[in-house]
Amino acid sequence: MQREEFLTSMRHLAASVSIISAKDSGGKPYAMTASSVTSLSMEPPSILVCVNKSAGIHKALSLGGGLCINILSKHQVDIANLCSSKDQENARFENNDWDNSELPFLKEAQSNIFCKIDQIIEYHTHSIVITKVVKAISVNSFNTLMYADGGYLD
Ligand SMILES: Cc1cc2nc3c(=O)[nH]c(=O)nc-3n(C[C@H](O)[C@H](O)[C@H](O)COP(=O)(O)O)c2cc1C
Repeated sequence: MQREEFLTSMRHLAASVSIISAKDSGGKPYAMTASSVTSLSMEPPSILVCVNKSAGIHKALSLGGGLCINILSKHQVDIANLCSSKDQENARFENNDWDNSELPFLKEAQSNIFCKIDQIIEYHTHSIVITKVVKAISVNSFNTLMYADGGYLD
């Protein structure tokens, strides 16, 4: 398998864009743009997300710890860019987009899904993080930000 063959095929895999957010044991918040969020099961309600071990948020993920999955709205491209740019890692919470009361969550997302981490499976460069859903808040209308072919869709 050629690297380019794989990357080209993945450009055809359209995905919803989320920002996952968490706090470490010292209370420091982390956030990362992620398209690998997948619904896993209804019994129990569970979701998985694949996180690169080199991502800042990775060190804040632990069994039993909290994770919020914020499914982005189409107007949230700026925060998606902020949370996928390594050089802006320290600026991600310097705005009014967040509610930082407990587990940080994005106030204007399509959905905020509050989860508890149930399993972390290592796979080479990534960890597959399996979570149980504790609570979910959603807006009524569908307006989800999508990513495909190397860019955000209108
Ligand atoms: C649309 C989009 C989807 C992404 N999905 C994932 C993902 O599912 N898992 C992941 O580890 N990185 C993903 N990334 C890359 C991370 O957001 C990016 O590498 C980020 O800078 C890593 O976090 P850090 O800067 O805090 O280390 C995605 C980036 C974009 C633009």
